[in-house]
Amino acid sequence: MKLPVYLYGHPVLRRESEPIDKTYPELSKLIDDMWACMYESEGVGLAAPQIGRNIKLIVIDASPVGDDFPECAGRKLTLINPELEVLDGEREVRSEGCLSLPGLSENVPRVEHIRLRWLDENFEPHEEEMSGFLARIVQHEYDHLIGKLYIDHISPIRKQLIKGKLNNIISGKTRCNYPVKYAPKKK
Ligand code: NI
Repeated sequence: MKLPVYLYGHPVLRRESEPIDKTYPELSKLIDDMWACMYESEGVGLAAPQIGRNIKLIVIDASPVGDDFPECAGRKLTLINPELEVLDGEREVRSEGCLSLPGLSENVPRVEHIRLRWLDENFEPHEEEMSGFLARIVQHEYDHLIGKLYIDHISPIRKQLIKGKLNNIISGKTRCNYPVKYAPKKK
């Protein structure tokens, strides 16, 4: 089954997600479906809230940007219950997009170095220091698990300027070339 990407305005994107364990039903099928969804929509990462589930699960394949950012080359990760630690406060600003915010990209400040602890798809523990664009992708996806979106990090003025586009996504006027689920209509 093709999973639709839940779009901005849907409340599932604003909830805190719950950790999971090995008993989570049909987890390997869900992970496979998330990979398929991410590749179809040409993203480099996808977090479970974006497919309508508030669980701590992320898939990342950063290899498409590996030519521009060597730290991303060949990096394919399944992150279960990730814990993110910021290692320094230096912030770098770069453009980001999100499958839940089609047609938009904004400059977003992020710290350059993080430490990440997580479980892989076999529930094996990992710990790694990450930097650069890989650290950025991880921070972006991790935000989804705590109900945040990249537009929460941009200035109020900038957010005001893109308000029309955001409203178009909320009201279902944005067209998308991958399957999506719009926010429920306000009664
Ligand atoms: Ni995103």
